[in-house]
Amino acid sequence: MHCSLRAKRRPSPGPLLRLEGVVKSFQGVVALKGVSFALYPREILGLIGPNGAGKTTLINLITGFLRPDRGHIYFAGEDITGLKPEAIANRGILRTFQHVQVFSGLTVLENILLGFSRRIKGSLLKEIFSLNGRKSEEELREQAFQILETFGLKHWASHPAEALPYGEQRRVVLARAVAAKPRVLLLDEPAAGLSPREGRELVGLLKQLKEGGLSLLLVDHDVDLILEVCDRVVVLSSGEIIAQGPPRVVRQDPKVIEAYLGSDA
Ligand SMILES: Nc1ncnc2c1ncn2[C@@H]1O[C@H](COP(=O)(O)OP(=O)(O)O)[C@@H](O)[C@H]1O
Ligand SMILES: [Mg+2]
Repeated sequence: MHCSLRAKRRPSPGPLLRLEGVVKSFQGVVALKGVSFALYPREILGLIGPNGAGKTTLINLITGFLRPDRGHIYFAGEDITGLKPEAIANRGILRTFQHVQVFSGLTVLENILLGFSRRIKGSLLKEIFSLNGRKSEEELREQAFQILETFGLKHWASHPAEALPYGEQRRVVLARAVAAKPRVLLLDEPAAGLSPREGRELVGLLKQLKEGGLSLLLVDHDVDLILEVCDRVVVLSSGEIIAQGPPRVVRQDPKVIEAYLGSDA
């Protein structure tokens, strides 16, 4: 069923995000050995691979937390290699982290309001309201409530974010990223620690985000989740792409099966 959808949506415009020959070493250990792939508009691209494959490193490179040793990263045709995290976030490339991080000491609603600013640190709610000068505080709160509704978090609005159950905290983090109106969202293992039911809810949410026009790079080692939600998959193993293509094809690739049996499975 996904095959026909994929064929219909075959992206015609150029890639939104493109990596070309990206190399990264840590103290002589080559974590990425020349990685090239593209993410197209309104696409969910899965990035899978065993632990240590280099998935988080790739996200760190795309978002400017790390600098590649070699290679280039392009966003909407512009070379963004080596830009600072804030400059990259300002272009609309946002991420969530492998380990869930809500802003503690703030309510769920305040977490979403902070999302309206793409600034990475140090934003105060007061600033958010003045930054969005043309919109009244009331309008912003209303928008925030709409996002909470989408993410099934409305009844948690006035609760301290850090007091929420784990699965809901993960949703807060995702909702906050969406509030910043990203063009590309990079999700590092968003399903980690979720129950099967929460996993299914996440799949629904991600599909909704894509329908809303977002492009997603979804990092996970949960092959079933990737198969369910992604248009295409890139498989990374020891810093190299060993397969890419539609989920059903990639899943049956002997190199992929071997990479998983070799470590995770
Ligand atoms: N900051 C770092 N310093 C040293 N080594 C690192 C650092 N970040 C990642 N690595 C190494 O790079 C490799 C890839 O790691 P990572 O990108 O976290 O993998 P994944 O997210 O696929 O599990 C691993 O061997 C890891 O130990
Ligand atoms: Mg990782």
